[in-house]
Amino acid sequence: MSLFNVYPLFDITLTYAQDVFVYDTNNVKYLDLYGGHAVISIGHSHPYYVQRVSEQLQKIGFYSNAIQNPLQNALATKLCKLSSCENYQLFLCNSGAEANENALKLASFYTGKKKVLAFKNSFHGRTSAAVAATDNSNIVAPINAQQEVDFVALGDIQSVEDILKQNKTCAVIIEHIQGIGGLHEMPTAFYKAVAKICKKHNTLLIADEIQSGFGRTGDFFAFQKHAITPDIISMAKGMGNGFPIGGILIHPDLKPSYGMLGTTFGGNHLACTASLSVLEIIELQNLMQHVSKLSIYFIEKALALPKNITIKGRGLMLGLEFDFPIAALRKTLIHKHHIFTGNSKNPNLLRILPPLTIQKKHIDQFMDALQQEL
Ligand SMILES: Cc1ncc(COP(=O)(O)O)c(C=O)c1O
Repeated sequence: MSLFNVYPLFDITLTYAQDVFVYDTNNVKYLDLYGGHAVISIGHSHPYYVQRVSEQLQKIGFYSNAIQNPLQNALATKLCKLSSCENYQLFLCNSGAEANENALKLASFYTGKKKVLAFKNSFHGRTSAAVAATDNSNIVAPINAQQEVDFVALGDIQSVEDILKQNKTCAVIIEHIQGIGGLHEMPTAFYKAVAKICKKHNTLLIADEIQSGFGRTGDFFAFQKHAITPDIISMAKGMGNGFPIGGILIHPDLKPSYGMLGTTFGGNHLACTASLSVLEIIELQNLMQHVSKLSIYFIEKALALPKNITIKGRGLMLGLEFDFPIAALRKTLIHKHHIFTGNSKNPNLLRILPPLTIQKKHIDQFMDALQQEL
């Protein structure tokens, strides 16, 4: 049987990973500035994480949501402490798309409305409503296109108001720093205005923190820089450091009822343990502070490069925008310098999404490689 060939692959097979490095079948060591697409938060195979997940597997790995699972409560408590999102409620699932799907569904249940407002260049996942709210017609199948979504340019507050006042929109879904779309971010005034208009028209505000959450920007969530209060916050990626887990944080005003949302695998014992140990390491190793410091270092170094480069993003969710397409440079970085980086919808933007444990010497290694190639 062959694999359904949907991924253009690099000819690299990994066998081992440790902190910021991954190793291939020939024992070639690569510096991972891509984090498996912003997934690796506390570093590959962190010993504490490996120990906790292994121990949990020895005890019980899974049971359904029909029984008590104190690990879910422990995760909720820890999340509340680290994120400062007090009194929010936690619903657990398995991926980013699923988190957004549940967020949109909840908004529709709550408001009784069914349209969605999303932004140009957005990415929210590949499932039904999530993909419909994604600004990429190539991945929206006719079955998804039934979902009514208005796409508005980031920053166009007048269109947000004009659409929401029609009273048909259940949710505005927004990445406060766009990921694959190219790391665009607006001034605080825009996000505050969106939040205000949502309140006025009984539309829920969903902050998609799937890529930007769990400390990646130096804040626990990217929206926190703008001091707004979303109704729902969706999470995944860094949440499990590679273990598949997603979730939504739900504002206390939204009341649950039995059967409203549900999942077989979501919130299982192994997934909760993985995410709990991620949070414990973020706290123990002061990773959010570390991210902010290393981000400053990265930006200083990048600004000293001998090319005209625009730096986008924040924390360790960064992009270097060149005045030429980066596809060839990215390949050279992998094959010659053994450094993984990311791309985006913007062909000139090289994305940097390393494990949050990265050190200055790793940034130096990357800058030396760039210096040689530019
Ligand atoms: C901002 C954002 N939302 C949603 C998703 C979808 O997450 P998943 O691939 O886990 O379904 C992604 C994945 O890249 C993302 O970056």
